[in-house]
Amino acid sequence: MQRELTLEFVRVTEAAALAAAPWMGKGRKKSADKAAVDAMRKVFDTITINGVVVIGEGEKDEAPRLYIGERIGDQDAGEELEIAVDPVEGTSLVARGLPHSLAIIAVGKKGSFLQAPDTYMEKIAVGPAAKGKINLDATVEDNLRAVADSLNKSVKDLTVIVLDRPRHQNLISDIRNVGARIKLISDGDVAGGIATGRENSGVDLLMGIGGATEGVLTAAALKCMGGEIQARLKCRNKADEEKAFELGIKDLDRLYTTDDLAFGDDIILAVTGITDGELLKGVRYTWNYAETNSLVMRSSTNTIRFIDTEHNIMNKPDYFPKGILSPNFR
Ligand code: FBP
Repeated sequence: MQRELTLEFVRVTEAAALAAAPWMGKGRKKSADKAAVDAMRKVFDTITINGVVVIGEGEKDEAPRLYIGERIGDQDAGEELEIAVDPVEGTSLVARGLPHSLAIIAVGKKGSFLQAPDTYMEKIAVGPAAKGKINLDATVEDNLRAVADSLNKSVKDLTVIVLDRPRHQNLISDIRNVGARIKLISDGDVAGGIATGRENSGVDLLMGIGGATEGVLTAAALKCMGGEIQARLKCRNKADEEKAFELGIKDLDRLYTTDDLAFGDDIILAVTGITDGELLKGVRYTWNYAETNSLVMRSSTNTIRFIDTEHNIMNKPDYFPKGILSPNFR
């Protein structure tokens, strides 16, 4: 993939974040998501690529835009690229004005991303220093001790990020019994997974069950950062299982590695903060400007680039849902 595309993909996530951010704290997660999807789609139309959405907003009949299988750009514009989108990762976070919501896309060559059904996935993820030390099938204690050794830390100094869900009651008590620290998050395990890949994030592991498509995006991020994820589908019901079979998954118990989820050495991942987080600031408004803070990474070089942008909102009215912002911003 041409490296110039990295900036184009950041424009896509910036647009989604700019469109979703005015909905912060308004209790309307669907509105935030729709605004982000529409903005993302508009900017995709300005990029010359031959793309197809493989992880998106759902099937064609349930999502008007960015549905799975939707063509992006021009079929004559070179090699076909696969696109995984999450216009708002953490819709409830935006609706409640909580930190760590992100707009995310990952792009790779054909065959880059596991086509995961919209179900759950059990995950364990770490950054580069603990790569090769985790095993989803090992006990919590064995994993924590192996990661602590590789980081040259005591287990007591490890921090594990876990979604705050009743299903994680046993996991949480196992982690506590070993003595590690826990950071419970209400939503947004992609941000948690990315945090494991950043040396000074204060997060060493992500553990637990979250969304399957989020698992694929986390794999794309960790691939670019040199970290590792292991995962296994956790279908909720027969319908999820059938969907998985339809997508070509033969073994529902298969343990997926980083490469199984995000394959190849040519993946670009772009992320823009919607609400403030430790990794990225959320969208901020100053007079006629909105500022965004983004991250773009490439698996081929492991380059991690942070991009701050000041957008003159008067020149980007299309991204903003009408009547949401104060007159200064219209
Ligand atoms: P949405 O942005 O789709 O609301 O997902 C947020 C999220 O917290 C993900 O980060 C996570 O993987 C998943 O939901 C967990 O699902 P659940 O809320 O059903 O436990």
